[in-house]
Amino acid sequence: MNQTPQNIDSPVDVVVMAAGKGTRMKSSLPKVLHRLGGQSLVLHVVETAVATGARNIVVVTGHGAPEVEAALAAQPLGVVPRFARQVPQLGTGHAVQQAAPQLADDSIVIILSGDVPLIRAETLRALALESAGRKLALLTIELDDPTGYGRIVRAPGSATAPVDRRGDVQAIVEEKDASDAQRAIREIYSGVMAVPSRLLKGWLARLDNRNAQGEFYLTDIVGMATVEGVPVVAQRCSDPLQVAGVNTPGQLAALERAFQRRQADSLMERGVRLADPARFDLRGTLECESDVEIDVNCIFEGSVSLGAGVRVGANCVIANARIEAGAVIHPFTHIEGEKAGVTVGESALVGPFARLRPGARLGAEVHVGNFVEIKNSTLAAGAKANHLAYLGDATVGQRVNYGAGSITANYDGANKHRTIIGDDVHVGSNCVLVAPITVGAGGTIGAGSTITKPTDPQALTVSRARQVSFANWERPKKLPKG
Ligand code: UD1
Ligand code: CA
Repeated sequence: MNQTPQNIDSPVDVVVMAAGKGTRMKSSLPKVLHRLGGQSLVLHVVETAVATGARNIVVVTGHGAPEVEAALAAQPLGVVPRFARQVPQLGTGHAVQQAAPQLADDSIVIILSGDVPLIRAETLRALALESAGRKLALLTIELDDPTGYGRIVRAPGSATAPVDRRGDVQAIVEEKDASDAQRAIREIYSGVMAVPSRLLKGWLARLDNRNAQGEFYLTDIVGMATVEGVPVVAQRCSDPLQVAGVNTPGQLAALERAFQRRQADSLMERGVRLADPARFDLRGTLECESDVEIDVNCIFEGSVSLGAGVRVGANCVIANARIEAGAVIHPFTHIEGEKAGVTVGESALVGPFARLRPGARLGAEVHVGNFVEIKNSTLAAGAKANHLAYLGDATVGQRVNYGAGSITANYDGANKHRTIIGDDVHVGSNCVLVAPITVGAGGTIGAGSTITKPTDPQALTVSRARQVSFANWERPKKLPKG
């Protein structure tokens, strides 16, 4: 990862501008920490920068800088990003000025925005290649509605000519500074450029803030390049998603849907059968073997892998889990592996309405039914807990049948203890197994028992009051009124 890609001659450094406030999000969270596909906007951008082969990545932080820096520092990344603080935030040119001291002179600098999360590494590599260490390369796109963006101003008379015959780029004019004629231009600056470091530094030093917003515009360097005769090239992007920025909750939601649709399409291309790609959410990575079927409204988080022929019913939430081949996850099941993970064995049946928590390890053909919660417990092959039960910190043997309403009392108020249930044990309904406890293999626990002492293999153990009956019992009668 950490090497310059082939055929870009100079090393690539990336600057990610992420200091802005994001006022229009109306949120106390810094804008770049809002999540898309379960991951912060700025992390998407930094990961792409790494994938581009960047030698150095400098993230410009300002608004919420400690949180933004901490969020990135917590991530394992191929290149450790450096930070440059921008306080106060005086514009995009000012932002890059703060990063400049950390940029070497021999590199091509790619400039990105922390709020444009879906830019792709191939696009950036192509742009760096276009810059070729001596040109200013801008990523542009033609939009039906260019409102709010910087317009690409080309040599006179050519702006309306077919794209491939237009004149040279002369300047980028921000919307607020644009004339009516300039506002009509539909080719806009995406906010992404590749520029030789040495040239960039010279231009940055000469920026001013004499414009409608009183800001130091990075985009003013285009005019400087033109005056100096440095070639400016516009590389057109045909994919609006890659350059879509997030400024409002509405834009974030729209981009989320588009992102999810892309992930859904790519899974379907690999043979995964999604009941409805518009009702599918992946916030992390999902590996699927052949013939996986996923019904509507499922959410996958973290790292999930599904073996061949796995079926996932509607409305399941599955995070950090491995589901082996042939297993069926029935509707409304919640699986959350967190760090310890969850594994579901081959041909196991889980749900509906089951809850598997960290450290749940189900063997082959295990059945876990409705309203059963399992945490930090191993169930060996063929074990069953089909209704209304809790297994926490338990080791459950093969073919055990664990009755409805039974629980492991694994917590004494201070410490957690283990429950060990041998192979072929039958635990009746409504039992409490008070840990630490061992139930011997082949044993039976009578319904309604509270078990506090180890039981022998093959034994029937019952701990409840003996049943008594009172013959011809007369129920109390209501007293007459008054
Ligand atoms: C910028 C471009 C505009 C382009 C648009 C594309 C300028 C002057 N304009 O406008 O031509 O069409 O992006 O989306 O560059 N930021 C800082 N510090 C600052 C100001 C901004 O770090 O002082 C960061 C923001 O957090 C954001 C990025 O720079 O990630 C872009 O800033 P923003 O204010 O959104 O620029 P636009 O007005 O969208
Ligand atoms: Ca913006």
